[in-house]
Formats: sequence, C-alpha cells, structure tokens
Amino acid sequence: MSNILEIKNLSVNFGGIKAVNDISMAVEEGKIVTLIGANGAGKSTVLRSISGIVKPQSGEILLNGQNILGLSPDAIVSRGVTLVPEGRRVFPNLTVQENLKIGAYLRKDKLDADLEYVYSLFPRLKERHWQLAGTLSGGEQQMLAVGRALMSKPKLVMMDEPSLGLAPLVVKSIFEIIETINGEGITVLLIEQNANMALRIADTAYVLETGAITMAGTGAELLANDTIKEAYLGKSK
Ligand SMILES: Nc1ncnc2c1ncn2[C@@H]1O[C@H](COP(=O)(O)OP(=O)(O)OP(=O)(O)O)[C@@H](O)[C@H]1O
Ligand SMILES: [Mg+2]
Repeated sequence: MSNILEIKNLSVNFGGIKAVNDISMAVEEGKIVTLIGANGAGKSTVLRSISGIVKPQSGEILLNGQNILGLSPDAIVSRGVTLVPEGRRVFPNLTVQENLKIGAYLRKDKLDADLEYVYSLFPRLKERHWQLAGTLSGGEQQMLAVGRALMSKPKLVMMDEPSLGLAPLVVKSIFEIIETINGEGITVLLIEQNANMALRIADTAYVLETGAITMAGTGAELLANDTIKEAYLGKSK
C-alpha cells in the first residue's frame, strides 16, 4: 500500500523555540500509526501543522504525494484530513446533532446516512441527540468529537489524546471505535499518553522527544523495546 501522508524535514518554531525539529515520518494508507512522547514533545504541533492550523518554518507535508503545506485548514478538511483536537472542543451550547452537522460544514450532499452511521457507532449519541453538548459526560463528549470528525467523511483521521481523562471502560470503547473505523478503511494517526494501548493497536509507531523523532518501528517492536518500556510503559527492565 502507498503512503497517504508523508512528512519530510518538518520544523516548527514558536518565537525562536523549536517545537518540532526536522522530523520525517510516513503514514501508510489504511493503517493505524501512533505518535508517542512526553508532555511538550511536540506531538500536537505535528498534528496541528498537518491540519494547517500551525504554520511550519520548513519542510513538506504530502497528502497522496501532493504538498498540502500552506493550504487553509478548510482546504485540508476538504481533501479528507480531519483532526479530533486535544480536549474535545465540542460546542457546549449546541445539541449533539447540531455538533455532528457542523462536522460536515464543508459538504453539500445529504447528511442523513452519515448521521445514521455515526449513531450506529455511538448509540449513546443517538439517545442523546437533543442534549446540549456541554452537559454530556467527558466520555460522551469524546465520542461526539470523534463522531463530528467522521461527519466530514475523512480518509485520514488524526486524534489528539482521545483517551485523556476517561475511565478505563470508556478508554477501551474509544480504542475499539478506532479499530472499527480503521477496519472500514479510514487511516488513523493517533497521539496517546496511553502508550501501552496505542502501541497495541498501531501498525507503525514513532517516538517524539523534544521535537525530534528518536525511534520508529512497528507497534509490537516498540512494545518489546526496553527503553520504551522504561520511559513510556512504566515498567522496569
Ligand atoms: N502556539 C504556540 N505558541 C508558543 N509555543 C507553543 C505553541 N504551541 C505549542 N507551543 C510549545 O511547543 C512545544 C510543543 O507543544 P505541543 O503542544 O506540540 O506538545 P505535546 O507533545 O502535544 O504535549 P502534551 O502531551 O502536553 O499535549 C511546547 O513547549 C509548547 O509550549
Ligand atoms: Mg498535545
């Protein structure tokens, strides 16, 4: 399979500080790729650069071989790349269903089938389609954020710490949903503090440390690696 996304020599500076320093990575079509790293390593900055929210200083971001660096966030969503942002960011004063429809704001075709698709993945959202998003539980808000991203019919969905702050059972269901949508052909680029679970479902994994990629391999390889075990999996050698 080919790479849906390639990042070449990407650097991002904020006021002279290098948040991302000359990184290169690839996301193969149809796979789950994870990016793990400590707080402040630059993970969100990478996803925000791909989404067009952050402007990198140098490098290339290729979507199916075409450079998307410099395109507006809307243009990037239109090309099939969506971000589920860190911290969910649902619109608290809109209902569940209104939030979902906003996910499809760039589409002009009918949404009914896609709403039903999202509701089939998340029956809880269907039950609560009338409820104001701000009154949902944390786990429900995360489901809504993922559902909203799916409403744009992405080819590549990027998720920034979808399990943060959620109870173990809800985390499990979020990971199951990630595998389900991936099984339906959507490529996933996942950032996780929960390195253990992320590496278990990832085909490919990259480790980001202070803005640089220090290790890459299959999820299984990194799970078995002593340095990773000690630094990210909370296990001693
Ligand atoms: N808009 C910004 N302006 C200035 N500095 C920024 C900006 N965005 C990110 N940074 C800095 O860039 C570095 C990387 O931040 P980033 O949010 O990408 O880290 P992260 O790996 O996602 O961390 P976390 O796990 O805590 O979410 C941090 O030092 C952060 O303070
Ligand atoms: Mg982050």
